[in-house]
Amino acid sequence: MRAMHTSSEHPLRWAIVDDLASRGWSRQDAVLPPGLLRQLAFECRQRELSPASVGRGAGQEVREAIRGDRIQWLEAGQSEACDQYLAAMDDLRQALNQGLYLGLEDFECHFALYPPGAFYRRHLDRFRDDDRRTVSAILYLNEDWQPEDGGQLRMFLADEVVHDVQPQAGCLVVFLSGDIPHEVLPAGRERLSLTGWFRRRGNDPF
Ligand code: OGA
Ligand code: MN
Repeated sequence: MRAMHTSSEHPLRWAIVDDLASRGWSRQDAVLPPGLLRQLAFECRQRELSPASVGRGAGQEVREAIRGDRIQWLEAGQSEACDQYLAAMDDLRQALNQGLYLGLEDFECHFALYPPGAFYRRHLDRFRDDDRRTVSAILYLNEDWQPEDGGQLRMFLADEVVHDVQPQAGCLVVFLSGDIPHEVLPAGRERLSLTGWFRRRGNDPF
């Protein structure tokens, strides 16, 4: 993340740490150079995506009445653009650990494409039987998104406050996975993102 490597007084990663500490979520705009965002969007469209499922392990199933996006997981070494993004997220992981003592060990991340009309109903990102997902981070890849295109991320915050985010290219939303219910409103046009989770070590003995 370009701003994260500058020596300015208050780099982006510390702004995110402060926001998470004070209110549990953060939104930052223009976090990556436009060229890199375009490359990531291109790659998202090129990849062979599969319908996303809900639930975990044996209980996992595709349910378009709950979520209609198509996804593919990222791995290191797949492309220069993806590796740059993973490096930026690793910087953020270290800042979150330094600032909030979260003990985050890794970051898992997938491309997501919502075809027109797709949505993701209200949910929490933490599984009932697996609490490793601790901080969610979503980077949007859509140029010139208009409010009438729909597809907003709707977050249900404390005191019944509802906050909508436009999935505009370069916007990064970070929040505590177990604390903030959220949904994706139906998108009127194709909606691209990179969605990921910083994870703690589980209680699993292995
Ligand atoms: C998710 C999710 C939100 C978004 O994939 O779990 O909530 O704005 N995505 O894409
Ligand atoms: Mn979610």
